[in-house]
Amino acid sequence: MVNQPLTDKQLAREEALVGEVLASFGKTPDARLRFVMESLVRHLHGFLRETRLSEAEWRAGIEFLTAAGHITDERRQEFVLLSDVLGASMQTIAINDAAQVGVTEATVLGPFFRAGAPEVVLGGDIALGAAGEPCWVEGTVTDLDGGPVAGATLEVWECDEAGLYDVQYDGDRTAARGRLHADERGCFRFWALTPVPYPIPHDGPVGRLLTATGRSPMRAPHLHFMVSAPGRRTLITHIFVEGEALRRGDAVFGVRESLVREFARFPGGVPTPDGRELEPERTWTQVNFDVVLAPAEVEHAGA
Ligand code: BEZ
Ligand code: FE
Repeated sequence: MVNQPLTDKQLAREEALVGEVLASFGKTPDARLRFVMESLVRHLHGFLRETRLSEAEWRAGIEFLTAAGHITDERRQEFVLLSDVLGASMQTIAINDAAQVGVTEATVLGPFFRAGAPEVVLGGDIALGAAGEPCWVEGTVTDLDGGPVAGATLEVWECDEAGLYDVQYDGDRTAARGRLHADERGCFRFWALTPVPYPIPHDGPVGRLLTATGRSPMRAPHLHFMVSAPGRRTLITHIFVEGEALRRGDAVFGVRESLVREFARFPGGVPTPDGRELEPERTWTQVNFDVVLAPAEVEHAGA
């Protein structure tokens, strides 16, 4: 579509409408809400005017959001997925991540976290029957001064070798997730599964958007962590498996260089770190992840 240059009259009409809408929020008692709404109005109208959006395109946008609403329920959150593939989730994290030197970087939560995962003892196995290559994970949780965060809670979760989280299967089986506590030296260790690449849910409107724009739904292979402790800022992050799958990219822009780890692979028969006996042919991997938590007061953006 070739746009004609706008006449002064048309420009004035569009700008008057923006001014009118801005003014409608002018008496918002909460100053922060007023600021956010005014900015939203300016950017939204800027987008409509810059793209010279047609009415059919506007309707398509409304239909897209309606479809996202229809597919959303307590197991599926299409709006968060949309935020993720637009990079809005990672941008919000980047803004709010205090970016203190030395603190472990955060990344997206994703839709598959479930509170109340089974308690797993240190050295235990979070696979809980999920299929995949065994992976020994160990590391420490410390504060910015290097002091141990004794008893820190670690929630970990991941998909199985088929690329599916437990909650994506029928039934209510819990697998490939667990809750652990670091010891008095801040150390943790557990068995998990070597992460594999998998697609984000792409059978809905977000998937159709990815297809229409030639984008891949694949996530770089990762293991999720949520690490918390009293007086510390809760960290939501992943570790990513170094290698080819990572280089192919990540549908939700979640990869941070500092979170990429080598998952060293060992042939079957090589003794495991804790003496666990695996089948003779079974390969396994090992990874280290040292977590550094920020103090709790670093909570707000723009600090
Ligand atoms: C995940 O890693 O579980 C995930 C993150 C964002 C969107 C979909 C899945
Ligand atoms: Fe994930």
